[in-house]
Amino acid sequence: MRDVAGMSLLVTGGGSGLGEGIARHFVERGARVTISGRRPEKVAAVAAALGPDCAAVAADVTDADGRARMIEAAVAHGGGLDALINNAGNMYRGAITEVEESKLHDVFASNVIGPMLLTGLAVPHLARRGGAVIFFGSVHTRRSYPGASPYAATRAATEGLTRVLAAELGPQKIRVNCIVPGAVPTEINVRAGLFADAEASAKRLESMIPQHPLGRIGTPEEIAEGVDYLARAEWVTGASLVVDGGLGLGLTQA
Ligand SMILES: NC(=O)c1ccc[n+]([C@@H]2O[C@H](COP(=O)([O-])OP(=O)(O)OC[C@H]3O[C@@H](n4cnc5c(N)ncnc54)[C@H](OP(=O)(O)O)[C@@H]3O)[C@@H](O)[C@H]2O)c1
Repeated sequence: MRDVAGMSLLVTGGGSGLGEGIARHFVERGARVTISGRRPEKVAAVAAALGPDCAAVAADVTDADGRARMIEAAVAHGGGLDALINNAGNMYRGAITEVEESKLHDVFASNVIGPMLLTGLAVPHLARRGGAVIFFGSVHTRRSYPGASPYAATRAATEGLTRVLAAELGPQKIRVNCIVPGAVPTEINVRAGLFADAEASAKRLESMIPQHPLGRIGTPEEIAEGVDYLARAEWVTGASLVVDGGLGLGLTQA
């Protein structure tokens, strides 16, 4: 396993939720972390809380200039790039009869197309260090939630492209893997307008506890531990690592 200390990581969407937890996990272990997000105040607050090993860049992953600024900032802050954590993402749900075309394009832009293009930009830097790319899947590809096809389709796409890019970039010694998180309370569903506030969103997730063989929902730190493994394991590529307390098993009481 590669050492975390001294690693340079770019964590997109690091201003909240899982991205914030991932940034904290790596900074606490001696890495140099650059976080990005569209809201400057969110990424600045996380970077201020984590200290000088964390740098913030306000940038949108769906925008070419924003992507270039993310890579430039991470390479400058970390003296190169060891891992790109494609964590930024959005939720969009809607019955198939009511899906709005522009919203469908938006969710694919932030969850799939932006991360793919950002990965392309990162390749020359990652190749110099034998680095890693981590995409985000979701329990939505393991369990079927009616009305969630837009989001589930983006997460199936990232899992699928992980395997192709692992094959494509292996000769450059770049590893490409996918983390597949289960239910963790973050602001994603509130930002999508599905719940009025964080409390209502957390309650909904807690109602899913009986579907977890391990009897509870997860934490950002537990997702960060999976990301840590994928960023450091030097003979693992093209893998999907499910970190979901067993939610994706589809627990059924006979
Ligand atoms: N929480 C879960 O249960 C769960 C389960 C499975 C998978 N996931 C995946 O985990 C990832 C993190 O989600 P989360 O749950 O931590 O939600 P979150 O707290 O809402 O974090 C998502 C982050 O992405 C950023 N972001 C969104 N669009 C962006 C864009 N166009 N450019 C740059 N940054 C952007 C957001 O910040 P700005 O709005 O400021 O840009 C936000 O900080 C997502 O990819 C999600 O699909 C989450």
